[in-house]
Amino acid sequence: MRVVFVGPPGAGKGTQAKVLCERWAIPQISTGDMLRAAKAAGKLPAELVAQMASGGLVPDEVVVGLIGDRTLQADAARGFLLDGFPRTVPQASALDTLLSGRGQALDAVIALEVPTELLMERAVLRRTDKRTGQIYHLKYSLPPPDAELEHRADDHEDVVRNRLETYSRMTAELLPYYEQRGLLRRVNGVGDVAEITQRILSLVDAKKT
Ligand code: AP5
Repeated sequence: MRVVFVGPPGAGKGTQAKVLCERWAIPQISTGDMLRAAKAAGKLPAELVAQMASGGLVPDEVVVGLIGDRTLQADAARGFLLDGFPRTVPQASALDTLLSGRGQALDAVIALEVPTELLMERAVLRRTDKRTGQIYHLKYSLPPPDAELEHRADDHEDVVRNRLETYSRMTAELLPYYEQRGLLRRVNGVGDVAEITQRILSLVDAKKT
């Protein structure tokens, strides 16, 4: 199973990815998580740290390189879920080239759709447990008392606004790219987490796992 999750900041990509990757026994490959890990390790160049902090995208070649290496690791042999990649048409095209060179292809691109007014609340009140990576929400999914909570640097209101604007500009071309190839599956991302998981499962052929 090779699946891509597309969706605006706070749409629930990471939340759904964790549930589905466990079910499908494939890795969640999040370029956002990889970039944040590189930053935490002091390995992300200062200009990329600044681009992320302002809500912009890092250059295509950086994330394409990360994905090219990560998808070659042993745990990705049976498939993977790409969370937040590709985000631009050049990234999508590079992914096609990479996969076709390995005799592989995508099975589906899931676009999680959530109205803008909900996205801001979801992102600003998100907290992550830095020990486990588990995602919580201060209103919808309360963390346990012993969680070591982190508030992402780009989850402050002004930066989220920029990320939303960047997303809508970039996906104006990305979604039609996948629609033309018959891969795009649009999913309503409003409702209970479990309900949304079922919507995704009903659209993605789980027999391919
Ligand atoms: P990235 O980390 O990918 O962030 P994002 O795409 O903006 O997505 P988020 O992580 O904000 O949201 P999500 O959809 O995963 O939502 P979540 O499940 O956490 O990217 C960060 C940055 O890295 C980018 O801005 C860019 O700079 C750079 N970058 C990354 N990839 C790149 C690429 N390919 N090219 C260039 N640059 C790249 O949920 C959000 C909150 O809502 C949580 O609190 C959760 O508990 C809650 N929630 C989830 N589902 C529900 C529900 N159904 N009901 C109520 N609450 C819910």
